[in-house]
Amino acid sequence: MPKALVTGGAGFIGSHVVDRLLEDGYEVTVLDNLSDGTLDNLVHLKNDKRFLFVEGDLRDPDVVSRLVKDVDAVFHLAAHAKMRVSLGDHRVDLEHNIIGTLNVLEAMAANNVHDLIFASSSAIYGEATVVPTPEEYIGIQTSLYGAAKLASEGYAEAFVQFAPIKFWAYRFGTILGERCRRGAIWDFEHKLIKNPKELEILGDGKQSKDYLYVKDCAEGILLGYKKSSASINIFNLGLQEQTTVDELASIVIDEMGLANVKRKYTGGPRGWIGDNPVVYLQVEKIKNLGWKPKMSPKDTIRLTAKWTVKDIEKRAHRAEHSETLHS
Ligand SMILES: NC(=O)c1ccc[n+]([C@@H]2O[C@H](COP(=O)([O-])OP(=O)(O)OC[C@H]3O[C@@H](n4cnc5c(N)ncnc54)[C@H](O)[C@@H]3O)[C@@H](O)[C@H]2O)c1
Repeated sequence: MPKALVTGGAGFIGSHVVDRLLEDGYEVTVLDNLSDGTLDNLVHLKNDKRFLFVEGDLRDPDVVSRLVKDVDAVFHLAAHAKMRVSLGDHRVDLEHNIIGTLNVLEAMAANNVHDLIFASSSAIYGEATVVPTPEEYIGIQTSLYGAAKLASEGYAEAFVQFAPIKFWAYRFGTILGERCRRGAIWDFEHKLIKNPKELEILGDGKQSKDYLYVKDCAEGILLGYKKSSASINIFNLGLQEQTTVDELASIVIDEMGLANVKRKYTGGPRGWIGDNPVVYLQVEKIKNLGWKPKMSPKDTIRLTAKWTVKDIEKRAHRAEHSETLHS
């Protein structure tokens, strides 16, 4: 039975990669410090003997080395992904994302583990002047998060030159689906629960993004890994379709059963520094390997909006219940 280590496996995308690996017959260990992830994402696996969860931090080289030791592949998804936090804390991406990745690479090289599959980001293209943006495009960095993803890719590519490591990097657009507890849908629903009459939208609402369903994303990661065998394999993962934040807001409002919601824009083409107004990825490279995403962006947004409503209710109920138990 092949063995995989999934860093960040308690997170949104990582937990779906874990599910997909188990479906494929892998034994899976997850390393996650639960800073942003939650065991709720893995609770359905608690009786699966092929699955092990380890709470630990990527920044600790001893933990990483111990877990990397006897696996066949490392799916490295753990990262600090909150762009706006790194505007104030300039070291957080360096420490979690670059040094964290270096710890993985050193552990793999020392333990003769070959396959590194990495969650990169379309953030590395910055405000791309070529759209749809191909993998060859080199952009100016607009966020420390993007800069750290690019540096991590660079470190991995350099390790490939002197260690027996093969590297797969996937540059995602915006991934949505069950267990997504960050981003526009999460933000909008929380705001609309507080005030169903008005919605504050960061930016001008015209930002257009490439939304991809998380299960199509996990499928793409596994398919690219199985079907490409160069020493360095880099793929965009998106749908090559654009949806504006305003269109997304309309679906969320509709899904929450609201009407006549006044939209208040903070203005400007970006929601925050580092919010690239247009993300539109060329995805022929992965499609040419046979990847066929099943879900459209609109259906993905609707499904995520529906799931989020239920998740917020579930959490509120749990919080209320635990308050009652403690009072
Ligand atoms: N969600 C997206 O749309 C998107 C887009 C582009 C790239 N990505 C990348 O995909 C990966 C997964 O993203 P996600 O949306 O699932 O985020 P997430 O925050 O849900 O998952 C990241 C996980 O990493 C864990 N983690 C963070 N720092 C850690 C550390 N130092 N040690 C151990 N664990 C740590 C967190 O607890 C969390 O469970 C990340 O690398 C992210 O940068 C995500």
